[in-house]
Amino acid sequence: MKNLAIFASGTGSNFEAIANAVEKRELNANIVLLVCDNPKAAVIDKAQSRGIEVLVFNPKEFESKNDYEMMIINKCKFLQIDLIALAGYMRILSKVLLAAYPKKIVNIHPSLLPAFKGKDAVQQAIDYGVKIMGITIHYVDEGIDTGEIINQKAFEINNEFTRSDIEIEIHKLEHSLYVETLKVLLEE
Ligand code: GRF
Repeated sequence: MKNLAIFASGTGSNFEAIANAVEKRELNANIVLLVCDNPKAAVIDKAQSRGIEVLVFNPKEFESKNDYEMMIINKCKFLQIDLIALAGYMRILSKVLLAAYPKKIVNIHPSLLPAFKGKDAVQQAIDYGVKIMGITIHYVDEGIDTGEIINQKAFEINNEFTRSDIEIEIHKLEHSLYVETLKVLLEE
């Protein structure tokens, strides 16, 4: 069975969806590690209550990005991680981490890339006035949301959709598409 690490900085609803799929054996993997750069993130509880190891750190306490990324790499290598899934991890990965896991790091982003990269993609799309929104799962490269696309899903909106309606729909799609996509990637 493959070993999965999830990197997250916030709420962790995607983390939870993946963990639930593992528990229900829909996903044939072990989640062996949560990496979290925010000691106050709600996702930490979600991992600990499931007995999943958490590597939580405050980037400000490190001299450089290289230092904390080396710590992450060492931990991932020690735990024999096969695949890394970013799920709301708010940091850009450097060459060092990417080189340690070539084509083994994926991310989920709440827009139809290449549109609306970066922060608050949902608001960017709303402000632009799009009628079709969506989500993307992609390999991670050195850019911001620029890596090769693996999977996407779209949905139509109209004037009656509030931001909260949109977010609910996005999360619903993310949770199922992430599990579906990881299933395929873990079989490779
Ligand atoms: C998701 O919408 C994901 O697309 C983005 O960050 C959000 C994380 O949500 N990268 P959650 O913490 O999984 O609830």
